[in-house]
Amino acid sequence: MDKLVIEGGPSLKGELKVSGSKNATLPILAATLLTDDVCVIRNSPKLRDTMTMVKLLRSLGKTVDIGKDELIISSKGDIQHIADYKLVSTMRGSFCVLGPLLGKLGKAKVSLPGGCVIGLRPVDLHIKGVKALGATVEVEGGYVIVKARHLKGNSVYLGGGFGSSVLATANVMMAAVLARGETTIESAACEPEITDLADFLIAMGAKIKGKGTPQIIITGVKKLHGADFKISSDRIEAGTFLILAVAMRSNLVIREANFNHLLSLIDRLEETGVRFEKDYNLIKVKCPKILKPASVTTFPYPGFPTDLQAQFMALMALTPGVSVITDKVYPDRFMHIAELSRMGANIRREGSNAIIEGVKQLHGAPVMASDLRASAALVIAGLAAKGKTEIHRIYHLERGYENLDEKLIQIGAKISREKE
Ligand code: EPU
Repeated sequence: MDKLVIEGGPSLKGELKVSGSKNATLPILAATLLTDDVCVIRNSPKLRDTMTMVKLLRSLGKTVDIGKDELIISSKGDIQHIADYKLVSTMRGSFCVLGPLLGKLGKAKVSLPGGCVIGLRPVDLHIKGVKALGATVEVEGGYVIVKARHLKGNSVYLGGGFGSSVLATANVMMAAVLARGETTIESAACEPEITDLADFLIAMGAKIKGKGTPQIIITGVKKLHGADFKISSDRIEAGTFLILAVAMRSNLVIREANFNHLLSLIDRLEETGVRFEKDYNLIKVKCPKILKPASVTTFPYPGFPTDLQAQFMALMALTPGVSVITDKVYPDRFMHIAELSRMGANIRREGSNAIIEGVKQLHGAPVMASDLRASAALVIAGLAAKGKTEIHRIYHLERGYENLDEKLIQIGAKISREKE
């Protein structure tokens, strides 16, 4: 296992290029199960999570060729319907093969994804959605088993106690594209990753209206064909880079970033005094000398993303003054508080709120990455801190950030990878 060793302090200079979106790639790869034709997926990031999905597709009978900048997915024989525990348990995103397998084969047996360090992550909305389309659902031996002779379009409300669900919307959309008749998803997720998935399905011949809105209407078609598709840039990686730039008071340029996908973060950063210039797919960060604290509450898109909560907390931890961060999507996603505190942060948790009293300087320390976004927060804190930080268990980081250490070294960061 590797660890990252960061020597904090030096200011950063230059450009960071954003990779393709992980959370768009995963359901789009799953959607290739809906056709026997060849699909070409471009700009998919080279990550541990995308490789897990590639392995899962292969285990289901797909052929996946990995090119320099594209994945080519084809079928040689029959697709099988069982998604094994070993692959699904390592990555919750794997659960989104349920919808396409059900839509294409009329049956699926997919392992329950299990617990997760960011809190409880149930699948009741996924089950509610496929039941509404006429599937029978059984949960047996840790697997969800769904069957339907013919899926039939229906209206289904997918808003849960914590708002809409990204992957439940993806699963129901992918099951509905081959169902008979019309399906309406109410309280659908509006995340750009769902829009990307809808665009891919449309490129395959699906009929979908309302992508990017809380009401998605799908008219089933008999068959889908192959498609050649480019994944959009990763808004969470772009957001992480913006926060990093501000934490380092470095006027970085972020390339291949979609400004419109980041409005909730831009708004909060402007509140702290930061200014931005945008130019097509470039965002230029203009940092003030003194930063003001800003509070934030996470919500489903277009609200502030829970996937940027930890990174924003690292920034507020080193911004003098008091701020409050509330996570309404994952109220227990606060494992990073203990690690940031080891670096001198002053953070108190009260339920789903974190109250942060920013300090002038964090100091380097050995810390443990607990999940993907918490790891990114520790990288930001480590780069801004005084002295040496060692981040252990960085495999979390490799799940979602493509070549992060190499990208940061190119703009002047002092980071090295060492064996544990
Ligand atoms: N929820 C339910 N029932 C369900 C499904 C979800 O109550 O059946 C709840 C969840 O417990 C949570 C809320 O609904 O409180 C939202 O969860 P959602 O289903 O939207 O999450 P997800 O689809 O499983 C995706 C991303 C996560 C990201 C969330 C929220 C992928 C592969 N994962 O997960 O990404 O945090 O949406 O935006 O797309 C990450 O990349 O680090 C990551 C965790």
